[in-house]
Amino acid sequence: MERTLSIIKPDAVNRQITGKINAMIEDAGLKIVAQKLIRLTSAQAEEFYAEHKDKPFFSGLVEFMCSAPVVVQVLQGENAVARYHKIMGAINPDVAEEGTIRKTYALSINCNSVHGSDSVESAAKEINFFFSKLDICE
Ligand code: CMP
Repeated sequence: MERTLSIIKPDAVNRQITGKINAMIEDAGLKIVAQKLIRLTSAQAEEFYAEHKDKPFFSGLVEFMCSAPVVVQVLQGENAVARYHKIMGAINPDVAEEGTIRKTYALSINCNSVHGSDSVESAAKEINFFFSKLDICE
C-alpha cells in the first residue's frame, strides 16, 4: 500500500466538479483516506511549490493556487503515486490521454485541475505539509 497527495485545484473547485473528480479517483480504485477544503495563503503556496521558485510560471502558479479554495486529499492504494499520475494524465491537457482527469476537465497547463505527488518521497513530505496522522482514516 502506498499513499500520495492530491490537490483539486481552484479551477475545478470553482466549477463544482470536485465530486466528479473524486468519482474518477474512486472508480480507478484509489481510496480517499483524508480530505479537506482549504484556502491557501501565498506563503503556504510558495512553500509547497518551493522547488519551482526559479521557474517563469512560479508567481502565476502561486497566484492561481490562492485564488479560490482547494481540496487537499490523501489517496491510498497499490502504487498510488504512479497510478494517480496515470489517472491525472499529462500536465498539459492538450497532450493528456483520453479518459484522464486533465483531458476531461483541465483548462490549461496552469489551470490543470489536479496536482499529484511525483515520487514516494515527495508524497510523504506533501502529505505531512497538509495532514497529521490523526487526519488519516483507513
Ligand atoms: P503541478 O502538478 O501542480 O506542479 C506544478 C504546477 O505548475 C503544474 O502542476 C502546473 O499547473 C503549473 N505550471 C504552469 N506552467 C507550467 C509549465 N510551463 N510547465 C510545468 N508546469 C507548469
